[in-house]
This record gives sequence, C-alpha cells and structure tokens, in this order.
Amino acid sequence: MYKDLEEIMLTEEDILKRTKELGRQISQDYASSNNLFVMSVLKGSVIFLADIVRHITLPMKYGFVTISTYKGGMRAQEKPTVVNTTFPSLEGMDVLLVEDILDSGATIRFATDWIKTLGVASVRTCVLVAKEGYENSKFPHPDYVGFEIPNRFVVGYGLDYQEKYRNLRCIGILKPAIYGGTE
Ligand code: IMP
Ligand code: MG
Repeated sequence: MYKDLEEIMLTEEDILKRTKELGRQISQDYASSNNLFVMSVLKGSVIFLADIVRHITLPMKYGFVTISTYKGGMRAQEKPTVVNTTFPSLEGMDVLLVEDILDSGATIRFATDWIKTLGVASVRTCVLVAKEGYENSKFPHPDYVGFEIPNRFVVGYGLDYQEKYRNLRCIGILKPAIYGGTE
C-alpha cells in the first residue's frame, strides 16, 4: 500500500500532534457549552473524529451523516444530498462538523446549510486538511483547519481512492500511475 505513494505529505506524528492542538483549542472555545455535538461526515472523517474527540476534554456526543457527492474517483460528481444520519434530534446543540478534506468547499457548505435547518444553537466546521487556495474560494471558510496542503490528490488517514488507502497511517500523494495519470 505505502509503495503506491509518490510522497508522504503528513506523517502519523504530524497528524496526531495537530489533532491534539485542535482538540485543545476546541475544548477552550466550547468551554461554556453543555451541548457539544461533533458530527462526522462518513466515511472519510471517521479516523480524524476518533483521534480528535479523544483530545476534547468536555462532555460531548458524536454522530454520523452520510452525504453523497463523490463516487470514489478523483472529483465530486454531483450535487450533495444527505443519505443517512445516526442521530434523532440536534435541537439546541452546538454542532461541530468534522471533515477530512476541503477541496472546493461544496460538501461543507452543503452540510452546514443542512445542519442550520435542524434547530441547532450553533454550527462550526473543522477540517483536517484544506487544499491551498481555499481562502479564495467563494464558499465559507472552515473555523478550524489542521493543515493547508498543495492541490494534489491525497490518500490515507481516512481519505480514499476508490475506497482504498483509508487505513494508511499517514497522508500521502498517490502515484499518478495508480489512477492512470490525470488528476
Ligand atoms: P469538496 O466538496 O470539493 O470540498 O470535496 C470534498 C470531498 O471530495 C471530500 O469529502 C472527499 O471525499 C473528496 N476529496 C476531495 N479531494 C480529495 C483528495 O485529495 N483525496 C481524497 N478525497 C478527496
Ligand atoms: Mg471521501
């Protein structure tokens, strides 16, 4: 698996160190909230969720949403829709949406707009990696960003190519030969 990587962009140590910092920051920012709900977008952000919640030192709950945008290739292909959720009601909750990666920002924008319709008290977003140039995007910026990375297709730590490579412990650039050469 690791031999399919052209380059390791973020090591396991880089990621865990940053996850710990984000968890500490989030714990400070939500210190006065009794209703923190961390929402993970399946399936990519599950690994990030598992690491970050263990560095949040407040009482909290978490749950999952499946949003279809992406058919396993290199690019989002259709308008996002909510396919499934694992929680009954988010009324009055302070929702923190966690996502693995921000590319165009369309998925996060869609998800936050949807969360706002659920009667929540607040919504913020946290992404582990954002592709460079996201500050210029027309979409709202995430409240927490782990790393800004070059605009390359990456896999690992939850991120997939055709559902594979999610279990890599690092984040790396996939060799172009694996996907036929064009991003
Ligand atoms: P956005 O809506 O354009 O921000 O794209 C977000 C979704 O596209 C993510 O949740 C990923 O599923 C997928 N995606 C975008 N870039 C990559 C990448 O480099 N590797 C793996 N998945 C990616
Ligand atoms: Mg994905």
